[in-house]
Parts: sequence; structure tokens; C-alpha cells
Amino acid sequence: MSMQKIVLMLVIVAAGGATLAMAAPTVEDQIKARQSAYTYMGWNMARIKAQAVDGEVPFNAAQMQAAANAIAAIAASNMSSMYSPETVEGTGWKPTRLKPEFFQELDKVGEIAGRFIEETARLAEVAQTGDQAAIARQFEATADACGSCHRNYRASE
Ligand code: HEC
Repeated sequence: MSMQKIVLMLVIVAAGGATLAMAAPTVEDQIKARQSAYTYMGWNMARIKAQAVDGEVPFNAAQMQAAANAIAAIAASNMSSMYSPETVEGTGWKPTRLKPEFFQELDKVGEIAGRFIEETARLAEVAQTGDQAAIARQFEATADACGSCHRNYRASE
């Protein structure tokens, strides 16, 4: 192999490495992404609570469907890519509240996350029916799935 070819190959390999390094999210990116995702899920859960559970705001079936679809889509969007062990410490929009136990109990985390994805998918299904009482019941089941992760893996503020 000529020296020129070897040099060219090394350049290509180095460029590939740089692309990969740039594609990997930083700790700050991951924490920002999950804080944003959870904040937006919380926003949509609050819309559902206000209309379907508390009746503070007049019930609007189309708005309930949109809110439930947004929650289910985020839950199913491979949120695990927002979690790497280095992200137990660091700051996104604010300092992270993730507890280190998360990475020591990945089986339990997997179960909790699986239930969370199921309950949010079910919330989106139930929202399609426009049945306010059924949506209120599934809201409670979903909120409980959120809470089971928070009780174990989110530090209090
Ligand atoms: C698999 C675990 C898990 C599940 C499931 C989960 N959360 Fe969280 N949530 C967290 C963690 C961890 C944080 C802290 C994130 C951080 O600061 O890095 C958090 C933070 C939040 C915050 C605060 C965001 C901020 O930046 O202030 C809200 C609001 C929230 N979650 C709502 C929800 C809602 C609503 C659901 C269910 C629809 C949910 N979460 C499901 C783990 C979870």
C-alpha cells in the first residue's frame, strides 16, 4: 500500500472519529433534554387534571387527546438515551435531581419505565374515547407510574 493511501485512510478514520464524538450528547445536553421532556409531560398532565379530573376548565375532548398523545409520544421516544451514568451529577437547565441509585437498580428501573410506557399509551387510547370519567381514572394510573420513578430515583428539591 502506498504511503499516500495510508495517510488518506488515517485522515478518513480520524474524521469519522470526530463525527462520532460530536454526535454523542454531552452530560449537559442529556440533562437538559430530560428536564425539558419531563416539564412538558408535566404541563400536559396538568391540562388533563384540570379538565378531566378537577373540572376547573371545561372538558374539551380534542384537547385531552392532544395532551395524552404528546405524553405517550415522549414516553415512547427512547428516554434512556437521556441517561448515562455520568449524568448523576451536572447541570442542565438547573442542577440534576437524578439519584445515583438509578444506575445501581437498572432491572427495577426497567420495570418502572415499562409500566410508565404502558400507562401513557393507555392514556392516549382512553383519551380517544372522549369519556371523561375513564380519562380521569387513567390519569390517576399514569400519575402513579410517574410517581413510582420519582419516589425511588428523583431527589427532592
Ligand atoms: C423512569 C423514571 C421517571 C419517570 C417514569 C418519570 N419521571 Fe419525572 N423525573 C425523573 C427524574 C430522574 C427527574 C429529574 C431530572 C433531572 O433533573 O435530571 C424528573 C423530573 C420531573 C419533573 C421536573 C422537571 C424539572 O426540570 O423541573 C417533572 C415535572 C416530572 N419529572 C414529571 C413527570 C411526569 C408527569 C411523569 C409521568 C407522565 C414522569 N415525570 C415520569 C424520573 C422519571
